[in-house]
Amino acid sequence: MGEYLIKGGNKIIGEIDICGAKNSILPILASVVLNENESIIHNVPKISDTFVAIDILKSIGCKVELKGSTIIVNSKDINNIEVPAGPVREMRSSIIFLGGILGRFKKVKISYPGGCELGARPIDFHIKAMRQLGATITEEQGFLMCEAKKLIGTRINLDFPSVGATQNIMLAAVFAKGETIISNAAKEPEIVDLQNFLNAMGASIKGAGTDMVVISGVQKLKAVEYKIMPDRIIAGTYLVATSITNGEILVKDVIPEHLNAITSKLIETGCDIKTFENSIWLKAPERLRAIHRLKTYPYPGFPTDMGPQFMTLLSIANGNSIVEETIFEGRNKHISEFMRMGANIVLLKDGMTSLITGVKNLNGTTVMAKDLRGGASLVLAGLCAEGETIVQNASFVERGYEHIEKDLKKLGANIVLR
Ligand code: EPZ
Repeated sequence: MGEYLIKGGNKIIGEIDICGAKNSILPILASVVLNENESIIHNVPKISDTFVAIDILKSIGCKVELKGSTIIVNSKDINNIEVPAGPVREMRSSIIFLGGILGRFKKVKISYPGGCELGARPIDFHIKAMRQLGATITEEQGFLMCEAKKLIGTRINLDFPSVGATQNIMLAAVFAKGETIISNAAKEPEIVDLQNFLNAMGASIKGAGTDMVVISGVQKLKAVEYKIMPDRIIAGTYLVATSITNGEILVKDVIPEHLNAITSKLIETGCDIKTFENSIWLKAPERLRAIHRLKTYPYPGFPTDMGPQFMTLLSIANGNSIVEETIFEGRNKHISEFMRMGANIVLLKDGMTSLITGVKNLNGTTVMAKDLRGGASLVLAGLCAEGETIVQNASFVERGYEHIEKDLKKLGANIVLR
């Protein structure tokens, strides 16, 4: 599993280029199955989740080549509509492969993803939407069997603006007969990136980034070459790393508007921030201010994927903060680890609301990552803690960060992965 060894106290100072977005490459790799031609994708993050998605593509018959940060996929000869159970259990977002395979082959068998570290992670919105498009879905021994004589466009209203459900519907509707309208759609930038990729492939989709996405069915797609968007959560993570070490950073190759909710909260804590066309500069204050209330929301609200990292910041800020997680019931598994480092955090009975009283400093010790963003927040805690911190289960962090230890070391941190 690997572990990070961190000696706290160094400032994060310098410049860093941000890689492509994990939550963009996964749905885009799932969408190439729609295309019988070649798909070339640039700016691909070399993280473990990307390699799981590549394994799934290969297991259904795609030819996949990875050259540096470019992936070339030929999905002409797909010969298997069954997504293997292993990868789906390992990465529950593999459910995103359902829509594309069903959309092209009108048949797909996929393991029920089940929960993960973040909680139950139900897929009822996905299943209901596929049925509304005309699919029959049955569950046999933990597998979903989906079939459709044909898929017919229809109006689908999501009870909650689910990112994955919005994406699965977009994929399943590309070849559907007529028009599919998704209302209460998720508005994340990764949805816009998926729309842009699909349209570059010859699909006909509009409205991504708003709460209404309209997909008009097409007959054929064509070869595509595309560069995916930068990872807003990695950028946000490094901005927080700088803020808690009294540092100064320029994060490059980002789309600043994607981080509006994050940078505005960092300004509230006293950080000095300047945004440029595709970079953000941050200088930390001597002492961070608490944020009376931080609540996570679907985009463009403050992202759930930045909640744990901000908890690191607030645990050493001057004053009391309330953090309310509203998306995932299992988001707060890292709090018990923080408390081992001397953080003063009370998690209320609902498991979603935490009261944080800032302390002067955290103390290094051995802690355990229990999920991707919680693990990242513990690495950040090690950067600002006194003494040495060991963060175990590094593989959780490697799911979403390409060598976080190399990036942070380049920026002045004393960190190794062993
Ligand atoms: C995507 O997960 C991201 N993952 C998550 O990033 C991100 O935190 C999340 O969106 C919210 O922004 C990828 O893009 C691969 P949802 P997803 O469907 O699609 C409930 C990270 O760390 N729900 O928007 O699974 C669900 O339980 C990961 O990078 C249902 O009830 O999120 C949750 O409470 C973590 N039924 C809420 O909706 C459903 O059918 C939002 O989930 C689907 C979802």
